[in-house]
Amino acid sequence: MAPPEVFTIADIRAAATANLDPKWAQYLNEGAMDLITVKSNEAAYDRYRIMPRILRDVTEVDTSTTIFGSKVTMPFGFSPAAMHCLAHPDGEVATSRAAAKAGIAMGLSHWATKSLEEVIAAGKEISSGNPYGLQTSSANQKKYIVELLRRAGEAGYKALLLTVDAPAIGRRLNELRNGIELPPGLKFPNIAYDPKSFRDTKRETNSTFDSFIPWVAGVTPPHMEIWLKGVYTPEDVALAACYPCIRGIIVSNHGGRQLDGAPATLEALPDCAAAVRAINASRAPEQKLFLGIDGGIRRGTDIFKALALGADFCFAGRLPIWGLAYDGQRGVDRLLELLRDELEMCMRLAGCKSLADIGPESLAVVEGGVPGLIRRLPKL
Ligand SMILES: Cc1cc2nc3c(=O)[nH]c(=O)nc-3n(C[C@H](O)[C@H](O)[C@H](O)COP(=O)(O)O)c2cc1C
Repeated sequence: MAPPEVFTIADIRAAATANLDPKWAQYLNEGAMDLITVKSNEAAYDRYRIMPRILRDVTEVDTSTTIFGSKVTMPFGFSPAAMHCLAHPDGEVATSRAAAKAGIAMGLSHWATKSLEEVIAAGKEISSGNPYGLQTSSANQKKYIVELLRRAGEAGYKALLLTVDAPAIGRRLNELRNGIELPPGLKFPNIAYDPKSFRDTKRETNSTFDSFIPWVAGVTPPHMEIWLKGVYTPEDVALAACYPCIRGIIVSNHGGRQLDGAPATLEALPDCAAAVRAINASRAPEQKLFLGIDGGIRRGTDIFKALALGADFCFAGRLPIWGLAYDGQRGVDRLLELLRDELEMCMRLAGCKSLADIGPESLAVVEGGVPGLIRRLPKL
């Protein structure tokens, strides 16, 4: 039977959730503890309004930008997320094909269920242009990291995404209750050490990132950028900027899977963006620190809002997995088509021809939850 026709990412999510085993749907859709942060990541976007503008020539709008040193068709890419094969047998290979077809960046989790080589090779059969980043967080596995980076460099990955918000795994009640184990037939081809059980909440324990970062810079192939994923406060932006090897940071709370009660990423963004602007003011343009965000992005208008609040780039982790569970690569293709259409339409109606035209003055914020009361944001 043909999958149901979908017109929004919410439609894709509903269809995906219906197709998945309920245990895996919970693993994907839920997060830590009472899901306060999971829910607020999405809700935060709804507190902003977009100001329509008129009398501008918006026949053509340009959504293209650059990330990891490569041109991409839009300021959106896939966050690294574990086990895409739970959603579809083609897993990360299908995700990669969709990313390549759309010309967008893809982050691959080291917990991927396909090898990093076959993932990038599948994309390169379609396009040689879209960039890939490889994520890891295993700071206590140095021998493994050296080998992983060698493989990633040779395969053509353009960035190392270091996840720094997981010195221990958050209390994800669904995982504890349902007993998450890798289903038979699936494997972790990129993990060379014993990954232990998924129920082991200490599985990624590492607290040595301060000494780890200079070390990892020394073993990262020179063509790969290093980004930190999971930065949240201006203090930590400043800390990240102390390491000259760091080219980008991603404001992320792991999709609400780590510290429940942490603010929504969109709420953390403006202060982090101000800190990044201050750092970049004293740097040469080629040393610019890039700012990404993930968590709760479900529409093209959400991308617009995050850019208006200071992000250079947006990522999402659950979206490609929902696309896969809905209809394999076709589902991810459709999801990216919707996202692009929504972003382009939003830019047209807000009078923005290019990403550089999007700024805080494009937004208003709903004041104190009072219906009808909004405050325009000032131009920077
Ligand atoms: C099922 C799932 C698995 C994830 N696995 C990883 C991972 O292996 N490494 C990592 O850094 N982040 C992981 N994340 C977090 C994502 O990279 C990203 O931060 C998060 O999904 C963003 O929120 P969003 O799903 O609302 O876009 C995972 C997220 C999900 C939903």
